[in-house]
Amino acid sequence: MFLPIFFIFSFLFSSTNAADFCVGDLNGPVGPAGYSCKKTATEDDFSFSGLRTAGNTTNLVKAAITPAFSTQFPGVNGLGISIARLDLAVGGVIPMHTHPRASELILVMDGTLFAGFISSDNKVYSKSLNEGDIMIFPQGLLHFQINTGKTQSVAFVSFNSADPGVQILDFALFTNDLPTDIIEGTTFLDAAQIKKLKGVLVGTG
Ligand SMILES: *[C@@H]1O[C@H](CO)[C@@H](O)[C@H](O)[C@H]1NC(C)=O
Repeated sequence: MFLPIFFIFSFLFSSTNAADFCVGDLNGPVGPAGYSCKKTATEDDFSFSGLRTAGNTTNLVKAAITPAFSTQFPGVNGLGISIARLDLAVGGVIPMHTHPRASELILVMDGTLFAGFISSDNKVYSKSLNEGDIMIFPQGLLHFQINTGKTQSVAFVSFNSADPGVQILDFALFTNDLPTDIIEGTTFLDAAQIKKLKGVLVGTG
């Protein structure tokens, strides 16, 4: 009677159920499904202190995104969840961007943000958010956040993907070598404006 129970318990406590989690092995292969699983996980794999400190907002957009995606926080690998910290100086902006693989939920911790997204039928949904407010940005849609307040702003954004991806519209257009005439032809912007933005955003062509 005692023996089988003992065996069942020792089995339960001595083996890791491979289906419970899959802490990412950053040295292994990575694909659309994420990283392969680290052989032995420890408690340290399931916590992350990288969001304690504010990101550096001394940059063009006066804002910083500090991710805790599967690459920074391998504990979320395979779990369809992740988080990031946003810091925005006064006047700072997270420029128009999309996350190809996730919806985003923002929680404003400090300050005032004006945020919005644009649906695929080109309708704008925007709102001024204060401390404690949340807003959802549906998967794949263009969205933005601007610090419209008089103080530094901090927000946390969570995603229903361990690797949501970030594609910033202006960087996609002006921070590479896509030829000016192609950008002109596909966006209807004039060449002078394109060259100016390539200058600011370190693009060529
Ligand atoms: C923030 O970034 C700026 C620009 O790259 C740099 O000059 C500055 O030293 C950084 N500040 C900190 C605290 O790292």
